[in-house]
Amino acid sequence: MTSPSNAHPSSHYAGAKNWLLGHRKRLAVLVSGRGSNLQALYQSASAHGFAIDWLIVSNQKESYGLAWALEHGLSTQLLNHRDFDSREAFDQALADQLKAFEPDLVVLAGFMRVLSPAFFARFQGLMINIHPSLLPSYPGLQTHRRALQDGVAFHGATVHSVTPELDHGPIVAQAVVGVHAEDDEYVLSARVLEMEHRLLPMATWALLRGDLQLQKGRWLLTRSQSNLPQELQFSQCLVHPLLNANPI
Ligand code: GRF
Repeated sequence: MTSPSNAHPSSHYAGAKNWLLGHRKRLAVLVSGRGSNLQALYQSASAHGFAIDWLIVSNQKESYGLAWALEHGLSTQLLNHRDFDSREAFDQALADQLKAFEPDLVVLAGFMRVLSPAFFARFQGLMINIHPSLLPSYPGLQTHRRALQDGVAFHGATVHSVTPELDHGPIVAQAVVGVHAEDDEYVLSARVLEMEHRLLPMATWALLRGDLQLQKGRWLLTRSQSNLPQELQFSQCLVHPLLNANPI
């Protein structure tokens, strides 16, 4: 992770520049584990001086992301799913927490719970997920291992709207990396994660600014972003610089 001070070439935008995002926003981020995407979001918001009210919710008390959020003074909520009798009861409690917060957007950033259709009914259109593959390829788990086993040349990450079907929903943006001959799961996942940390902030801020509209099931950029610093300009596809590491 890069620090806020050197993460963005135009960090001189930090300060009273919340016009880049409109009025103050309320962002709920759901995490289960490490929370590196949460950190990337937070660091990006800090670097650009965005005024965000955060709510970080985790279903795992051991989540490093939750501990990190607490350390950084963000509002946190632990909802341990083991404390609930059923999936529905957990989802109801989670939905109640989120509704009380009234988020502009809910971001699933490594939230390892399948949510019930009733939950989605309450948050339709308000929720995105980051997934470590180029959807619709490799929904589910162990995406990097499966990509290596299949010998694909391209892999990556996707930010998409959440719908009741797991790892489906309209694609907001994707990041593409090359798969290299010497890659193992660890190396490939690190290359993808580096791109996730750029992709998630870019997609989140574009949605919060209202620059994207869902038209016939596809997210489209419907507003000029030429007044924004370059690293905030939304791009539906980010490409890793080492895409072609093994030219023939
Ligand atoms: C990321 O790879 C994300 O795409 C997936 O879970 C992982 C979470 O990592 N949904 P972190 O907790 O953000 O470090």
